[in-house]
Amino acid sequence: MTSKYEIENLLRPPVEYSSALVSYVFMGACIVAPYKLSMSPTVGFAFAGMFFVTGTWRFFQGVKISTYHKSFKRLPRYILSLSKIKVSRHFLFMGKGFRWRETHTERIYAVRERKNEKYSTQSFIYSWIRNLEYQIENGKIGFLAKITAKDVYFNPFRPYPDVGGEPALHGVGVNEEKDVTMRLSNRYGHHIVVGSTRVGKSRKAEVYITQDIHRNKDDLIVIFDPKGDADLLKRIYIEAEKAGRLSELMIFHLGFPEISCSYNPLDSFTRLTELSTRVTGSLPESGDSKAFKDYAWQFTNSFSKGMFYCGDVPNYPKIKQAFKRPDLLLIKYSEKYLASINVEFSFEVERLTDELKAKKQKKNNTRSPKAEAFITFIRDKGIYGNTLEDLIYINQLDPEYFGKISSAIGPFLEKVTSGQVGDILSGAKDGCEKPVLDWMELYKRGGIVYIGLDALTDVEVGGAVGEASFAALTSMAGYIYKHDIDAGTPFTKSKKRNVIVHADEFSDLIGPKFVPLANKSGGANFQLVLYTQTLSDIEVKLGDESKANQVITNINTIEFMRVQDEKTANLMVKKLPEVNVSTIMAVSGVNDNAGQGGTVGFVSSNEDRTSTQRVPMLQVADIAGLPKGQSFCLMDGNQLYKLRAPMPDKKDSAALPATLLDVVNKMKVAYQSDVEWGGLRND
Ligand SMILES: Nc1ncnc2c1ncn2[C@@H]1O[C@H](COP(=O)(O)OP(=O)(O)OP(=O)(O)O)[C@@H](O)[C@H]1O
Ligand SMILES: [Mg+2]
Repeated sequence: MTSKYEIENLLRPPVEYSSALVSYVFMGACIVAPYKLSMSPTVGFAFAGMFFVTGTWRFFQGVKISTYHKSFKRLPRYILSLSKIKVSRHFLFMGKGFRWRETHTERIYAVRERKNEKYSTQSFIYSWIRNLEYQIENGKIGFLAKITAKDVYFNPFRPYPDVGGEPALHGVGVNEEKDVTMRLSNRYGHHIVVGSTRVGKSRKAEVYITQDIHRNKDDLIVIFDPKGDADLLKRIYIEAEKAGRLSELMIFHLGFPEISCSYNPLDSFTRLTELSTRVTGSLPESGDSKAFKDYAWQFTNSFSKGMFYCGDVPNYPKIKQAFKRPDLLLIKYSEKYLASINVEFSFEVERLTDELKAKKQKKNNTRSPKAEAFITFIRDKGIYGNTLEDLIYINQLDPEYFGKISSAIGPFLEKVTSGQVGDILSGAKDGCEKPVLDWMELYKRGGIVYIGLDALTDVEVGGAVGEASFAALTSMAGYIYKHDIDAGTPFTKSKKRNVIVHADEFSDLIGPKFVPLANKSGGANFQLVLYTQTLSDIEVKLGDESKANQVITNINTIEFMRVQDEKTANLMVKKLPEVNVSTIMAVSGVNDNAGQGGTVGFVSSNEDRTSTQRVPMLQVADIAGLPKGQSFCLMDGNQLYKLRAPMPDKKDSAALPATLLDVVNKMKVAYQSDVEWGGLRND
């Protein structure tokens, strides 16, 4: 379809068919009656061959024009069994598409012109049938509507795929469409997929995750799914099974503790202070609540330091216990601390305890006598320790005041420690047979981890666990980045392992520590694939626009599905250059010379003028008008591609074991993905 003329005009009748027809007629004549054309049969056959070649050539040129026109109303369905995707060691398959250039901008401008509206308007019959279906749907002949609406190949009135948007956005390159891939080496620069709700982010994730699972068994694949999309979990399960990696699959799911492994979101950190941020992150910050949050943070920090010193790994139940009985931690800490500085305390503390017990009975004092005895002993001896002071301070607070602060964090701690959710959030426990999710262990071993957060049921817990897990990954990336893996570290592998993180709705998962993860983790062989709805979500989480921009601008591959938010869409639009668009202007005029003498009565003119104008390569409206499953992708240093992802075919799903099937069914009720799998097919 390349045009050697100054202006390409594809919005015209496919006249190539006429010349193809003429060529075929001459071909027939050359074969049937060569003598009538003054040729011998041999020469006739030679000419017939030539006419066949030119006719076919013209015919296919006509087909291209017809396909081009058809694609403005609908594109062929693209449903693919994901097992048919070629998994490459060097490339990631992204879908079908083409490199978007100046020509495509020019073509989309042409399609939108008023005179070309007919190419993108549905036929009268099609619109009439759809309207009729609506009118008769609930009437006596409602069955007719069901027949005409059937999504089957042989239905002449078959409705177009319900993907909305402007099909012409892909149609302008439909004849150049090929498989689009991204070099795996580019993935260390990370990849973000932005798209509003229900436009196909999770289905796209399925396409990418499937390839990652099959590509290299050494890779560690981590999938965060805050909503708990049933189809995604099902896909991961099936593909892990096909790849022979089922034994490596670990599922952590807040919504289905029965099948979940157990995990302590507080067990990995780079700085101990991170723990308090994770525990108190969900508390409100407005007005007076801010002071309560700050105190709760400070107390949690003191408790974590205390526990850590005593050799305990902090977890939610232990923090809750510390808020309920801060004296127990003080006693444990003091014993260990005094022993470490060689101070003999047992006899004296016991004596003081007995004394205090006697007083307590008289005064009805509720404080623990042993903790008070330790405080008195430490004060008498003039012993000082930073954490020790913190714990003493907490124990000496007015119980009513301490109770108020504890009650701010109480409900959250209650949620994460009660019932089955509490069980799976407390990490390794004696007598518990569930596998335990330990990030460093996983890095050493490799595998596939699915983290379902069920955030639709409980935003607070889902958010806290998601953020904590993401922060744990950041710590892990930092550790791997800093340490030379070859130089005697505990890792079993001699080189760094790829860690591929797919984070759906990732704005729900991030905290302040996310910026270093996005900026530096590539050096630790991390490949982030982040899916989000708008930039504002990231802004809200990171606190300001510049940080959100910093995240996005540091990501190498940016993929935009349909986005309505102008500011978000501008992130891509503004990165692209302006291009020249040529237009034809028809000019006609008449000059009347009547009454002025001479032989010329009037002069008429008719001309086509071409003009060019500078326009942006893409507009916000182009991104807002994308059909479901389609995207614009900037990769490889600002090369723009137009992509459409396949709709994963569910028919190839292997039979699932009953337990997972149950889980999936329960999840389907909890979170509908609306996919009607039956009857969909490629054509
Ligand atoms: N490649 C595709 N081709 C055609 N339709 C698609 C494609 N991908 C998704 N869809 C349609 O869009 C619907 C929503 O897809 P998906 O669940 O992936 O969206 P999402 O962006 O993840 O939504 P959410 O914000 O709710 O998580 C699907 O049920 C399907 O009907
Ligand atoms: Mg989704």
